[in-house]
Amino acid sequence: MSLPKACIFDLDGVIVDTVPAHFVAWKAMADELNIPFTEEENEHLKGVSRIDSMKRILAMGNIEKSEQEIIDYTTRKNEIYVEIISKMTPSDILPGVVEFIDLLRQHNVAVAIGSSSKNTPTILKAVGLDQAFDVIVDGNQVTYSKPDPEVFLKGANQLDFAPAECIVLEDAISGVEAAKRGGMKCIGVGDAKVLGAADVVISDMTELNIDFLKALYTNEELHQA
Ligand code: BG6
Ligand code: MG
Repeated sequence: MSLPKACIFDLDGVIVDTVPAHFVAWKAMADELNIPFTEEENEHLKGVSRIDSMKRILAMGNIEKSEQEIIDYTTRKNEIYVEIISKMTPSDILPGVVEFIDLLRQHNVAVAIGSSSKNTPTILKAVGLDQAFDVIVDGNQVTYSKPDPEVFLKGANQLDFAPAECIVLEDAISGVEAAKRGGMKCIGVGDAKVLGAADVVISDMTELNIDFLKALYTNEELHQA
């Protein structure tokens, strides 16, 4: 059994839990517009770009705004969001992440980030992981948002590996779809009922080990914890 050449990690919800911070910031905008916005609706914005998220919120309220107004709302949303994430520390890294990255390094598996977020550099710096990855592709470098596979294909390309040699870790439906459309195996991180399209779903990264990764990569039967 062999190992993949690389693992490409989504950031939000996989490396750090930024979902509550996104919720607080989006809710502030929705409240201004008198659009009801719940944590469950926020869940559906996972993996979706900033502009597309704002457009979805406006659609929920049946409200139309000009492109410039949409940019203004997202700019203000981002100011609230950045204020929260700037205060993150290494203690905000999700369970098992640091250990799993160390394990991959010990086995010469490359590690990359494939995120929709334009705040990726800020978050990685805040939690002390800005030097931890071989390649970082984020929302500043892509034209098409997940579920388009662009972000992961760029990651594989910059690593110089074929997509099929990489495994993606994702917490969002749109991200799982992006990985599959890109020809990559995908480990869903979160709820198996939500991430059914992934090749396998784990609750968090403490469940991962080298045998698990080898089995997934070589299509052997997986024995989940
Ligand atoms: C994704 C998040 O990773 O990045 C989405 O799951 C977010 O919720 C998107 O909208 C864009 O993030 P940012 O930080 O550029 O606004
Ligand atoms: Mg995510």
